[in-house]
Amino acid sequence: MSSGTFVIAIDGPAASGKSSTAQMVAEKLGYLHVDSGSLYRAATAAALRRESDVEKWTEQTVLDSVRGVEMRAARTSFYPVLDGRAIEEEIRGPNVTDNVSRVAQMRRVRQWVDDKVRAAAESRDVVVDGRDIGTVVFPNADLKVFLVADSRERAARRLRQRGTPTSQQMLDDETIRITERDARDAGQTVPAADAVVIDTTGLTQQEQVEQIVTLAKQRSG
Ligand code: CDP
Repeated sequence: MSSGTFVIAIDGPAASGKSSTAQMVAEKLGYLHVDSGSLYRAATAAALRRESDVEKWTEQTVLDSVRGVEMRAARTSFYPVLDGRAIEEEIRGPNVTDNVSRVAQMRRVRQWVDDKVRAAAESRDVVVDGRDIGTVVFPNADLKVFLVADSRERAARRLRQRGTPTSQQMLDDETIRITERDARDAGQTVPAADAVVIDTTGLTQQEQVEQIVTLAKQRSG
């Protein structure tokens, strides 16, 4: 056990379906979903507001910027707010996505995220998704899942998620963007030795959610 509450860690590379899966698993089990990537994204959005020239960023710029970021609990999930306001749309934008890996390399920023995520799990059973949840943040998680999927399939999912019409060219470009982010995040995207690896390439969302819920029930029962 990690902290007296039941912790499910869901890790995996970009657009592998971690967040949407984690949210659905949390709803089915009555747990709270914590998206650690949303905190790295919120830190990036906060730093961009402070200094738009990312070449000038230091670790201190980002640490100063995150003072305005808080986690708020909704019914089934936590979400970040910046200066008291929800920032969901801003943190999913291309400027944040292009620069988030830079912020994620900063040791003290990682510490800041880890503290916030661990605090969220203190009093509730949680499903936490990210890259290093099962290895670094909750090495004693009750269940660790590592989701993988073919990069083209992940690109297609990301485009579908945006809900705008897409072309072959857009799919090619998104596949390249995802592969580049995989390379930048490779250092912290490693499955824990005791993680259950699920290849979701040929699975529906419902199927992957069911697999995780079944595993969770086996472990908690
Ligand atoms: O868009 P995607 O689902 O791939 O990523 P995300 O979960 O929103 O995370 C955004 C970025 O935060 C990643 O590209 C990583 O650079 C970083 N991240 C991390 O380093 N460690 C985590 N536990 C979660 C996210």
